[in-house]
Amino acid sequence: MSNSTNQLLKETPNDHPIIDVIKNRWSPRAFTDMPVSQTDLQSLFEAGRWAASSNNFQPWNFVWGIKGSETYDRIMKHLAEFNQSWAKNAPVLMLGVIDTKTPDGKDNYHALHDLGQFSANMALQAHSMGIAVHQMAGVDFEASKKEFEFPEQFHVATAIAVGYYSNDLEQLPDDLQSEETKKRERKKQNEFLFNGSYIHREEL
Ligand SMILES: Cc1cc2nc3c(=O)[nH]c(=O)nc-3n(C[C@H](O)[C@H](O)[C@H](O)COP(=O)(O)O)c2cc1C
Repeated sequence: MSNSTNQLLKETPNDHPIIDVIKNRWSPRAFTDMPVSQTDLQSLFEAGRWAASSNNFQPWNFVWGIKGSETYDRIMKHLAEFNQSWAKNAPVLMLGVIDTKTPDGKDNYHALHDLGQFSANMALQAHSMGIAVHQMAGVDFEASKKEFEFPEQFHVATAIAVGYYSNDLEQLPDDLQSEETKKRERKKQNEFLFNGSYIHREEL
């Protein structure tokens, strides 16, 4: 199923009502060859920039590269082989990097959480613009940290592929094509909600 912007929609069997942008966002591995403009990229980063963060420390940092640029290739070479096999279709690659220390030098235990909030904001903003964001843990975090000369206290947490959703699944290896149309799945609410202690689960 596609909508008017050629966006492949996945079945999302939500149990309770949610807003469309959350319901319909997903992480594709196929992208059209349409570039994402610098203006649109700036809107994605702006959405992330306004995420909440612990103490407003904003520990997030992003390396971004557009296909055809040296930075894109420098990110690509540190992706896990599996991720390279499909992320090469994406017009933009990024690295999500956290500063693990607070401004006064203490450990920031919430930095990863806050990068996640930035990335979620970015993904939802992107989706509202017909753009898909696919986050990846499969990146050599040590080599890419070195590659982009981040100081010791920084940690490369994710790589991110960004581009327009595509209906053309031929660009993917066979085993990944079926993934693009699979129904989305989540745990049921009663598997992670505790109205009291961990051992005492009650239906909401
Ligand atoms: C932090 C993080 C790391 C991920 N790592 C990878 C990855 O290395 N490779 C990949 O293909 N997908 C990766 N994913 C995508 C997830 O598999 C995907 O978000 C999950 O299956 C839920 O699907 P949805 O985003 O389409 O709802 C990652 C997602 C997140 C948030």
